[in-house]
Amino acid sequence: MPDGLLQLPGIGRERFLRRYWQRKPLLLRQALPGFAPLLSRRALFDLALRDDVEARLVQRAGAQWSVLHAPLRARDLPPLRRPGWTLLVQGVDLHHEAVAALLRRFRFLPDARLDDIMVSWASDGGGVGPHVDDYDVFLLQAQGRRRWRLGAVAEPRMQDGQPLKLLQDFQPQQDIVVEPGDLLYLPPGWGHDGVAQGECMTYSVGFRAPPGDELLRQLLWKLAEELPAAARYSDRGRIEPRGAAHPARLPEDMVDFVAQAFSRLRPGRADFRRALGELLTEPKQEVVFEAPPAGALERRLARKGLRLDRRSRMLWAPGAIFVNGESVPQALCRSPLLRQLADARCLDAAQYASASDAERDLLRQWFRLGWAHAAGD
Ligand code: SIN
Ligand code: CO
Repeated sequence: MPDGLLQLPGIGRERFLRRYWQRKPLLLRQALPGFAPLLSRRALFDLALRDDVEARLVQRAGAQWSVLHAPLRARDLPPLRRPGWTLLVQGVDLHHEAVAALLRRFRFLPDARLDDIMVSWASDGGGVGPHVDDYDVFLLQAQGRRRWRLGAVAEPRMQDGQPLKLLQDFQPQQDIVVEPGDLLYLPPGWGHDGVAQGECMTYSVGFRAPPGDELLRQLLWKLAEELPAAARYSDRGRIEPRGAAHPARLPEDMVDFVAQAFSRLRPGRADFRRALGELLTEPKQEVVFEAPPAGALERRLARKGLRLDRRSRMLWAPGAIFVNGESVPQALCRSPLLRQLADARCLDAAQYASASDAERDLLRQWFRLGWAHAAGD
């Protein structure tokens, strides 16, 4: 596969973004001609059985579905020839360089939206049922054929008594069969139901599109966690002896106390930017960075430059740079070199040589944490 961003043949990225992105589905036949699985079924199953990988097994028996979440054991997996089951492995890009490289081909969309690549393997008839996602997703067919039924869903209503969110009365308007190399784009909230026709593998490139209330809950939690310690509630000298008749009454001054504490929060745009940047660069839960082996790091860096670990998340904004859930110290928050690293995810030897002492100190810290490596390592 050639390096560089995905071309979207026949439409081009610009027209795609104007006409389809977040508006309506688009099927691109042979968007990646000759595309084949980047890891074998065996390698995918091995990954699914690891305890640092998010995976689930979905099976269907008639109208009843069942879901088994990781940690999965080898004996949980049904025989390959049994129809109607699928194994879905989340965040495969975190573990596999070729899959991470595929994800980078989608960087014509902002990193802040990029989530991960999920890879599914399904036996004949396998799928996860009719549903909607909170994500923009590109579904890349990697092996075998899959029938997709698609339809707009005005108000999603879910089936009762199922262990996964399945649409009730799904009314598809499109019915297509995809083959390896075909790419199907779906905006969030679009109903879809994919059923394997024979053994099949699908790569889902997901872009988070969180609902505002969910994002706000996470941001407020983060902002509240950072509040300086406040005075303790006190009712010294304020308890009315008459109140003994109503010990169950919530004291109004306790409500005032909480309201005042909340009004001190008053976040501004810079606080939101910082909280958002730190939140969006937080590594996935199961990511554990390893410290590098000791060795002639400086010499390797001077010769080759450096690259971010594929699991490192980095974003920048006016007056702020974020990496793996942290803000870069104030003195470096406008560093063009660090912005360059965030965009390109690597620095060549000449760029590394141009780093200031403070930038170099920070980058050395990132090496020690396993967030970055000498290029080529
Ligand atoms: C799958 O790969 O089976 C599921 C993808 C999806 O419907 O989001
Ligand atoms: Co889906």
